[in-house]
Amino acid sequence: MKSYNMAVIGGDGTGPEVTREALKVLDVAAGKFGFKLNPTEYDFGGARYLRTGEVLPDSVAEELRQFPVILLGAIGHPDVKPGILEKGILLRLRFELEQYINLRPVKLYDERFCPLKGKTPEQVDFVVVRENNEGLYTGAGGFVFKGTAHEVAVQESINTRRGVERCLRYAFDYTRRRNRRKTLTLSGKTNVLTYAFDLWERAFHEIGQKDYPDIKREYAHVDATTMWFVKNPEWFDVIVTDNMFGDIITDLGAMIQGGMGIAAGGNLNPRGTSMFEPIGGSAPKYTGKNVINPLAAICAGQMLLDFLGEAAAAEAVETAVIKTVREKLTDLAAGKMGHSTSEVGDLVAAAL
Ligand code: IPM
Ligand code: MN
Repeated sequence: MKSYNMAVIGGDGTGPEVTREALKVLDVAAGKFGFKLNPTEYDFGGARYLRTGEVLPDSVAEELRQFPVILLGAIGHPDVKPGILEKGILLRLRFELEQYINLRPVKLYDERFCPLKGKTPEQVDFVVVRENNEGLYTGAGGFVFKGTAHEVAVQESINTRRGVERCLRYAFDYTRRRNRRKTLTLSGKTNVLTYAFDLWERAFHEIGQKDYPDIKREYAHVDATTMWFVKNPEWFDVIVTDNMFGDIITDLGAMIQGGMGIAAGGNLNPRGTSMFEPIGGSAPKYTGKNVINPLAAICAGQMLLDFLGEAAAAEAVETAVIKTVREKLTDLAAGKMGHSTSEVGDLVAAAL
């Protein structure tokens, strides 16, 4: 029997409770499709940091490399200064494991949960390919004269030809494999960020023209992209963008697909260790209340199966999620689902 090792980091807040439901569903999928998942749990997050001062020991970052996949719950603790855990765990793993793609599907499963009037599941169905290792996220920059009246803060956006090119190539390949409208939209800001997005735009057209003539190329400024997410989401098939813009537009994307309760993403290293997570935060005020929606974590599990090559199992999980959303849930928001966290996990497992 095929067997896959998997690291599990429940993390902070409601992370562990939604991860538990994802594992419940993954277990059923494995049984049904004839493979085995061997989870190893790691307790990194705010609680451990407050207890021991440890964020992520070097040895663990190395150890995690041995796993093909990681399932992550959430990172962020109200008693820890913003940035310490995010940079020390989440961003560090994204960078060190070279997860250079952040893949974020925006797919509406039921019209009832879309805040846009009259938009249907057929019209809200696209994927954002967010560059995940560069841009404004590298920490390049610094202060001069900090704390004085002359203080200067510089935060630099790093865009390497290599980093941009591998992201674009992934996006073109993904658009081809998805085989829908075969349209890849570069979302940028060529009218203002005339260095960074000049590089992106040149690389986009060069690579597209040479190696992906079957893929239609479109360009949209990022501000206009947000406008179209709301007005005409059906225009999009696959969108590729830099790290910061990708972060921002996928929160909007999450809202039009029904909210943070359903939105999942994958931090991908196509040839290494990839990490899957619900894209919402740790929701500290709901911690331990059994009210948060686990579907985003379950959908992260679905992406994990797909990455492992278990396409049929992944598809079955998605079908079970859609069935649960359409037939059983009154809302997707925490506390309004009509069911508890663990009940939603049970419903998906039963549907599967
Ligand atoms: C996300 C989050 C992270 C990011 C934070 C927690 C560092 O917002 O995954 O979208 O900015 O990438
Ligand atoms: Mn974000």
